[in-house]
Amino acid sequence: MALWGGRFSQAADTRFKQFNDSLPFDYRLAEQDVLGSISWSRALVKVGILTAEEQLKLEAALQDLLAQVQADPEQILQSDAEDIHSWVESQLIERVGDLGKKLHTGRSRNDQVATDLKLWCKTQGAQLLLTIHGLQRQLVAVADAHQSTVLPGYTHLQRAQPVTFAHWALAYVEMLERDYSRLQDALARLNLSPLGCGALAGTAYAIDREALALDMGFAGATRNSLDTVADRDHVVELMNCASLSMIHLSRFAEDLIFYNTGEAGFVELSDKVTSGSSLMPQKKNPDALELIRGKVGRVVGAQMGMMMTLKALPLAYNKDMQEDKEGLFDALDTWHDCLDMAALVLDDIKVNQARTLAAAQGGYANATELADYLVAKGIPFREAHHIVGEAVVYAIQVAKPLEDLSLAELQQFSSVMAEDVYPVLSLESTLGKRVAKGGVAPDQIAAALAEAQARLAAR
Ligand code: ARG
Repeated sequence: MALWGGRFSQAADTRFKQFNDSLPFDYRLAEQDVLGSISWSRALVKVGILTAEEQLKLEAALQDLLAQVQADPEQILQSDAEDIHSWVESQLIERVGDLGKKLHTGRSRNDQVATDLKLWCKTQGAQLLLTIHGLQRQLVAVADAHQSTVLPGYTHLQRAQPVTFAHWALAYVEMLERDYSRLQDALARLNLSPLGCGALAGTAYAIDREALALDMGFAGATRNSLDTVADRDHVVELMNCASLSMIHLSRFAEDLIFYNTGEAGFVELSDKVTSGSSLMPQKKNPDALELIRGKVGRVVGAQMGMMMTLKALPLAYNKDMQEDKEGLFDALDTWHDCLDMAALVLDDIKVNQARTLAAAQGGYANATELADYLVAKGIPFREAHHIVGEAVVYAIQVAKPLEDLSLAELQQFSSVMAEDVYPVLSLESTLGKRVAKGGVAPDQIAAALAEAQARLAAR
C-alpha cells in the first residue's frame, strides 16, 4: 500500500508506478533508513508522541529488520513498495501492527531521504578513504623497491630528463593525497543532520535536533529547513572528488599502458590483470588499466548529470532530486573499484630496469646537463642552450649519445669543453644534482619516501 493513498481514488498506472518507484536503486539505503528511524523513535519519546515502552517495541522491531537487511539486502527487491522509506514502514507495520504507523509523526520523506543519503555518504566516504590509503601504500611499496631504478622522465611524451621509478610512484601518492584530503573536506561539510526539517518548513514538534543529530553520528544539525531538504551539494561534491581522482587514475593508467608497450618495455603487467586476444596469440592486453582509463567517462558524466538535474530547481524538494542516487552510487562504486584495481595492478608489476636505464641514457636526456656545464664555464644560458642544440643535431647524425662524442667532436661546438665534461654527462650526476626539495637526488627521494611512509603510518 502506498504511503499516501487517502487522497487518491484511482490506482497508479503500472507504467507510471515503474517510472516513479525508486526502490530498485534506493534499497541500498535500507540500513540508513532503519538507523535513522531508530533515532527518530527516540526523539519522539522526548516530545511525548511515543511512550518509552512503545519506543522499545519499535526499536526492537527495527533492530530485527536491520539484521535482516544486513544479511540479505537484495531481498528488498522482491517488494513492489514505492521506495525504501515505504518499504521500511510497511515492514515495521507487519511486525508491530498499528504502533508502526506512529513512527512517521513529524517526519517527511524529504528530510528522511536527505538524512539517509548523507548517512550513506558518510559510510561510503569512510570506505573510500581506506581504499585511497591502500593504493597509496601500494605505491609507496613500489617506490621503496625502486629507489634507484632510473626511468626516463617525459614532457610532451619526449624523453626530457631522467627520474627514478620511485619518483614516478611518489608523484601519484601526492595526487591521491589531495584526493584524500578533498574527500575528508567534503565529508566534514556534509556531516550535518537534515532530520527534523520536515517536508520543508521544519517539524511541528519540539524535537531537539542537535541531540537527534548526535544520536545518528552527525556532528550537528543543519540550520535552515528549506535549504536542507533541497540541498544535494554533498552529492555533487562527492562526485567532484570521484571525478578528479578518476582523472588522476586515468593518467596513472595511461603512463603504465605506455610503459607496458612493446616499444617501451619498461614494465610487464602480471597475467592476473591482463587478457589475451581471441585472434592474435601473442597479445597480452592491459585491460585493467584501459578500463580504469575508460571509466573516468561515466564518473564525470554522472557528475555533469547531477549538476544539470539541480540547475534551476526551485526550492525546496522536487522529485527531480530522486535522480541523485543512481549516478552517485555508480560514481562512487566505480571510483572504489578503480582504486582497488590500480592497487592490484601494482601488486605484481615487474619493472625492466635494463630497459628503463637504456631509455634514460638514450634520447639525449642529459642535454640540459651539458648546457649547465657550459654555463658553469661562463657562457650565458641562452647561448649554451643553442650550442647544445647543435651538438645534439650532430650526435643524432652520427648516432651516438652525447657522452660518446670525443672531446674533439664536442669542441667543434664550444672551445670551453674539456675532459671534465664527461662526469657531468653521467646519469648519476644528472640525478644527483637535483638536490632541492622535491627533486630526484637520491637523498631527496629517500627523504620523500620516508616522509610518505610516516604520513601514511600516522593515519
Ligand atoms: N524516493 C524519493 C527520493 O528518492 C523519496 C522522497 C520522496 N518525497 C516526496 N515528497 N515525494 O527522492
